[in-house]
Amino acid sequence: MTQASGTPDVPDLGRRQFMNLLLLGAGGTAVGGMLYPVIRYFVPPSAGGAGGGTIAKDEIGNNVVASQFLESHAPGARELVQGLKGDPTYLVVTEDATLASYGINSVCTHLGCVVPWNASENKFICPCHGSQYNAQGKVVRGPAPLSLALAHADVTETGEVSLSPWTETDFRTGEKPWWT
Ligand code: FES
Repeated sequence: MTQASGTPDVPDLGRRQFMNLLLLGAGGTAVGGMLYPVIRYFVPPSAGGAGGGTIAKDEIGNNVVASQFLESHAPGARELVQGLKGDPTYLVVTEDATLASYGINSVCTHLGCVVPWNASENKFICPCHGSQYNAQGKVVRGPAPLSLALAHADVTETGEVSLSPWTETDFRTGEKPWWT
């Protein structure tokens, strides 16, 4: 009998606890969200990279080591890594089998699709609306209005690839970089 009168409370209690947990979780997320910029403020922007750069990461988050990258990529290759602010960025292997001093941000300047490299065409061709960029990421066909952004690519003392902001003249156009 007492069981019968108490039974209806059980789901309510369970629901209330569940709601409390949800609220706690939401609160925790909100606090975490607020803390993130504070933490970022105290963490140095450079994690060992050259000149305030970001160490490039491969698709599973490992640091990209230049010698290994060059061993596994032929001259002329363009391969995506995680670059500045996590942007997918192409590292370029020159015809001399060295790492090019620039990386190419793969985000299309039209509406932001990631632009794949088309080795047979020797171009980056956007699958979304057909924009094309040459092998250095300079726009050669619209609707994209601008070339793909550049980043400096360097090798650190410990052999990793570091990407850093490209603020100088865009060597492909002779103009100031639009992305700074
Ligand atoms: Fe690349 Fe539109 S997003 S052409």
